[in-house]
Amino acid sequence: MECNFKKTSIVFVYILVGVWIAYAFLRTKKADELVFSIGAGTEEIRVIKTLINKFEAENPAIKVTLNVLSAPTDQQHHYYLTTLGAKNEDFDVMRIDTIWIAEFASAGWLESLENCLNKEERMSFLPVTEETNVFQGALYAIPWNANVGLLYYRKDLLGKYHMRPPDTWEELIDLCTQISASESVYGYLWQGKQYEGLICNFIEFIGSNNDGIIDSAGNIIIDSVHNAIVLDLMHDLIWKYRVSPQNTYSELEEESSRHLFQQGKGLFLRNWTYVWKLCQEDPSMNGKVGVSRLPRFSDGKPASVYGGWHLAINAYSGKKEQAWQLIHFLTSHEAQKELAMHASWMPSRKALYKDPELIEKLPFLPVVESALHNVQIRPNVPYYQWISDILQKHVNKVLSNQTSSKEALMTMKTKLEGIKRDFAKN
Ligand code: GLC
Repeated sequence: MECNFKKTSIVFVYILVGVWIAYAFLRTKKADELVFSIGAGTEEIRVIKTLINKFEAENPAIKVTLNVLSAPTDQQHHYYLTTLGAKNEDFDVMRIDTIWIAEFASAGWLESLENCLNKEERMSFLPVTEETNVFQGALYAIPWNANVGLLYYRKDLLGKYHMRPPDTWEELIDLCTQISASESVYGYLWQGKQYEGLICNFIEFIGSNNDGIIDSAGNIIIDSVHNAIVLDLMHDLIWKYRVSPQNTYSELEEESSRHLFQQGKGLFLRNWTYVWKLCQEDPSMNGKVGVSRLPRFSDGKPASVYGGWHLAINAYSGKKEQAWQLIHFLTSHEAQKELAMHASWMPSRKALYKDPELIEKLPFLPVVESALHNVQIRPNVPYYQWISDILQKHVNKVLSNQTSSKEALMTMKTKLEGIKRDFAKN
């Protein structure tokens, strides 16, 4: 018995030590773990993982775990509203859309990064990013990739008919009508479904007719004659000229429109910069795709919306220093160059637009640079999501023939003024 007892106690000690080692090991691992929350496409995540491996090799004390979210911006926004609203500390670094910064910062969900960069480093980023990253005088996010709306076109088909990419919306409609009479392609694919992407398209159409939604003094100016013309055009592309598919208003988002284009079913596509890389890797599209600025109204200028993604630190994180180390690494010149080369993400650092290797690999880089000069910024206010929800609903109603452009613009003006008043009270 005694012996047995001894044996049992030795086994017991071994078990205890084993459990302790396992516990100590797991505990250390957890203490070193930094969670990076990110929504992106599969290919993009693959490139990011390579960068993370490099970061871990340079910083052996930190282990990065990716918290991968679904790519659409609206879904990610819901995720953050619930988690950050509940003061969740399970993730440290977040990749956030440029339109959420004011909202999240005003809610106290982002750590201020005001003292993280010196003046020279801060100036090395594109000036537009300062407009969205700063809230009430403090910096809350570091731009990771800049995004602009571009016109992708089928170079081979335009070449076959000896045509050039369109300069105006009128020219685009003519080209679509002529070419799709003999080729089985839709003319123009764009994002008309009721979601954030529709607002990006709407603001670009509006900008290309020299107008806006809110002026620099904060007045709601959406109900203008110019904007009525814009909404009519968006509607007519589908219903009058029939150059865009009928399901534009119900189905077309970034990915669904990109799929149609890559399947050879579109002459023109409005989309973001990531599409370039995917078209280059697609054997059926390789060499057939060109990129230009989006068209304009005859009296207007081409306009693209600014759609960047930025890195920020969760204010509830217990690992802010390590979180900053990761942000510093990922937004560096070298990391951004990798992302541009392998995912066609546009850099947020100005100098990279002059990098000869990048210009060779991404021949449309100068097009993006020029788009950044007349870029449209979505209203940079904490209640942007409320504005967007109203715009999404009423612009989409015009596209789906439920209301007229004039009526929709009047309703949007009234509702936006109501929101502005409500927020002024708070
Ligand atoms: C892109 C842009 C982002 C925008 C979104 C709309 O991801 O980068 O800013 O809000 O598209 O779908």
